[in-house]
Amino acid sequence: MISIEVKASKAYQVHIGSGLLPQLGERLRGVCQGSTAAIVSDSHVYPLYGEAAEKSLKDAGFRVLNFVFPAGEESKNAETYLNLLNFLAEKEVTRTDCLVALGGGVVGDLTGFAAATYLRGIPYIQVPTTLLAAVDSSVGGKTAIDLPTGKNLVGAFCQPKMVLCDIETLNSLPEDIFRDGCAEVIKYGVLYDRKLFDHLSQEGIGFHREAVIARCVELKRDVVMADEFDTGERMKLNLGHTFGHGIEARSHFTVSHGKAVAAGMCIVARSAAACGYCSKEVSDAVTSVVRRFGLPASTGYDASDLFTCALSDKKRSGSRVNLIIPHDIGDCRILPMELPHIQSFIQAGL
Ligand code: GLY
Repeated sequence: MISIEVKASKAYQVHIGSGLLPQLGERLRGVCQGSTAAIVSDSHVYPLYGEAAEKSLKDAGFRVLNFVFPAGEESKNAETYLNLLNFLAEKEVTRTDCLVALGGGVVGDLTGFAAATYLRGIPYIQVPTTLLAAVDSSVGGKTAIDLPTGKNLVGAFCQPKMVLCDIETLNSLPEDIFRDGCAEVIKYGVLYDRKLFDHLSQEGIGFHREAVIARCVELKRDVVMADEFDTGERMKLNLGHTFGHGIEARSHFTVSHGKAVAAGMCIVARSAAACGYCSKEVSDAVTSVVRRFGLPASTGYDASDLFTCALSDKKRSGSRVNLIIPHDIGDCRILPMELPHIQSFIQAGL
């Protein structure tokens, strides 16, 4: 097991290893004084891991509740959120009790937002069961639900008390979902770590899971500690996302987040090379590792489609969008770009 401490506004441990789920109750005891643990999970994950999580929590002396909602991004909405709050209130969950987010990014974001707001804030922990949640959304305290007008438009920064990542839970992921998470793993290599990037280029999907997840968490930890509230360095985690979100939205979410981010990273790398921010070798290397993972390196949408979506990017400030541009593998920079230049910039990378 590898443990990584995140010293944000509140400090917590991220534990990564094999066979950690049976230790859930005992580890929660170490960070929670309350008597009740409320598991929040979805209809895919709960049947796989709910029983093991419940047993471990009960063995550690917790009263265990469970709130299970239909799996999928469409559940990350105000209705599920309010149902969860009502459930917690009806079951008399108090401020010292704890929510346990057992699942992927949707479960983690929704649970975190409920924890941030129920009784003006109660503790929660993250138990990520997807690669994407393990390397990204479970760490750093971004919590949210979606509005009909866009993803993650309502949320709060609220750090978990602990993250427990049992990498064995990743074995039950359909290969396609695992591949999706790989886009975020590749992203960390392009952003910060050539050694990680080279390992991924060599090993492809057979990369060393525990070590790679831990390295991504270390990198995310450093970003979160430098810029918890996303006003500077943390924006770099948006690499590939500005155009990726455009692809996702244009496809009405039939193109998954990971595939859209993979294509978005390749587009921005090709645009950066065409505009002289990086060499063609760098952009070719990004495209090649993305293809090695069986992820898409391009899109059928045109520059005007992606430009329209960039207008609603959350990282937009006034008439500029903050694009994340690779200069080299392991060295990306924030480039504020005026709206009138963005469409031709995208065009250069299609
Ligand atoms: N998922 C991007 C971030 O945590 O900032």
